[in-house]
Amino acid sequence: MSVLNIKRYHSVMGAFTRIPVAAVKLKTQGLLQLTTLVLLVAVIASGALLTASTTPITSRRGMVVAAEPLATAVGLEVLRDGGSAVDAAVATALALAVTYPQAGNLGGGGFIIFRPTVGSSVAYDFRETAPAASSRSMFLVDGVYDGDRHHNSHIAVGVPGTVAGLYLAWSDHGRLPWQRLVAPAIGLARNGFLVSHDFAASLAAVLPQMVPYEASVQQFSDGGEPYQAGDRFVQEELASTLERIATEGPAGFYSGRTAQLIEAEMLANGGLITQSDLGNYRPHRSTPVRTSYRGYEIISMPPISSGGTALVQMLNILEGYGLAEFGFGSAQTIHVMTEAMRRAFADRARYLGDPRFNPMMPISRLVSKSYAEELRATIQLGRASSSSPLSFEWPTEGTETTHLSVVDAERQAVSLTYTLEQLYGSKIVVPGAGFLLNNEMGDFNPAPNMTDVEGRIGTDPNLASPGKRMLSSMTPTIVEKNGELFMVTGSPGGRTIINTVLQTIVNVIDFGMNIQEAVDAPRFHHQWLPDRISYERYGLSPDTLTLLESKGHRFVAVDRQGAVQAIRYDASTDILEGAPDRRRAGSTALGY
Ligand code: GLY
Repeated sequence: MSVLNIKRYHSVMGAFTRIPVAAVKLKTQGLLQLTTLVLLVAVIASGALLTASTTPITSRRGMVVAAEPLATAVGLEVLRDGGSAVDAAVATALALAVTYPQAGNLGGGGFIIFRPTVGSSVAYDFRETAPAASSRSMFLVDGVYDGDRHHNSHIAVGVPGTVAGLYLAWSDHGRLPWQRLVAPAIGLARNGFLVSHDFAASLAAVLPQMVPYEASVQQFSDGGEPYQAGDRFVQEELASTLERIATEGPAGFYSGRTAQLIEAEMLANGGLITQSDLGNYRPHRSTPVRTSYRGYEIISMPPISSGGTALVQMLNILEGYGLAEFGFGSAQTIHVMTEAMRRAFADRARYLGDPRFNPMMPISRLVSKSYAEELRATIQLGRASSSSPLSFEWPTEGTETTHLSVVDAERQAVSLTYTLEQLYGSKIVVPGAGFLLNNEMGDFNPAPNMTDVEGRIGTDPNLASPGKRMLSSMTPTIVEKNGELFMVTGSPGGRTIINTVLQTIVNVIDFGMNIQEAVDAPRFHHQWLPDRISYERYGLSPDTLTLLESKGHRFVAVDRQGAVQAIRYDASTDILEGAPDRRRAGSTALGY
């Protein structure tokens, strides 16, 4: 019997309430041909409140978990059509560029970890690059740092990598035609889709920031007024751009009309990206960083993301502690995890940047077991360390990234995280091309030697330079056990991403949670500086806080951290388990 499960999450009155809107068991292949999209229409139309569950959804053949239901359904249809995990991930990512413009994108960048059934896993790096006219001091005006220039301007836009990166991964591991993968996104843009309550609220909130950009207001509002839930949202110009990408591949984005439109927008507004920058953009294949952790194999993103390196460092440190005996959420567990986070983030700030511009980065040392032992020896169980007063907080990163996980029938797996940096990126839609540009240049350090008491860092490895990629925290990760796939995970959340991924892995391996419980469990974060633990409100009990305070820790409560979209594979039963994150409305797991 085939099983089709759908879970969708709503945020009800501010509370995280998970509602599996439909869990449908269909007996025949014929009935399975009822498309997932038809079911989703019923799902979305339904206001019914069904039973919540901490049990992951299960499926036998394939699974897609992503941040928005329509795009997730696109990925599922690709799997059912015989597509590979990469095909499904590419189609889902392209659809998210239409249905989830908060972070889904053509105008941003990201990373993929791909695990084939046979052979070695590979990392795809399609991070944005600095345009040729960039410089170390580009965010200074008359010697004074200008935060708007750094984060909210045409100067803040990096050369996008998404289209080239998705195409490269598809060229290597795709099975269905490229046009088949772009077609659903074109349909969603051309025909439109119904605006949900959450999307309407998100568009209304961002509209004031889009006011300086006429094309953005035109695309994301109804004649200057916010869209209402239930309105149809059509993006004609985006559909035309996607059609060029469908027929020409990356050339439909990096040359010709799309490239001309990007350059024209830049020239008219003091931006730096030229057609030559676009033509020179290249995605990279690289070797993931790896470590073993209590018998599991961790495979994650190497630099230019800091994510994999820091994740491996932290796991290596934590392997020396009996977390299971300490217990989930205990003061001792939070303490040692915080101390591991503090040390990994200090090294991140000190060493990490684009490897092509920093050939001496000591990555093999940072991820070694012997270095973890040295770091562990500096941790006292009874006392918090203090972060160095000579070093300061890393520059602010956006949290509006998005992650998707896919596993196909052969147990090939994709862990894909991509981003526009902040919510709706730069807020700048390319006139005539219908897509948002990133503001990823904000992930570079502000200026040389600009380490100050306000928390800025001016160290060399991550200063802007022509063609350089900006440091990221995205941590798409795959875990294996005994050579078999075990888990696919990742999250948005700026620097919190690394710690969110860490906790999801530890929750399963050390604390024995099922994958949905591991995603649901409350999270916390420490990033070296500022020297404090941020934790999800209600996630730590008052007596735990008191115990941690007595060791010298300080705290701040936050509403939520991250949005993991995870899959676990049980090799003994050959069953996939999907776990979307209820912290974000729209998170969806679909299997077949
Ligand atoms: N823009 C967030 C990151 O790359 O980590």
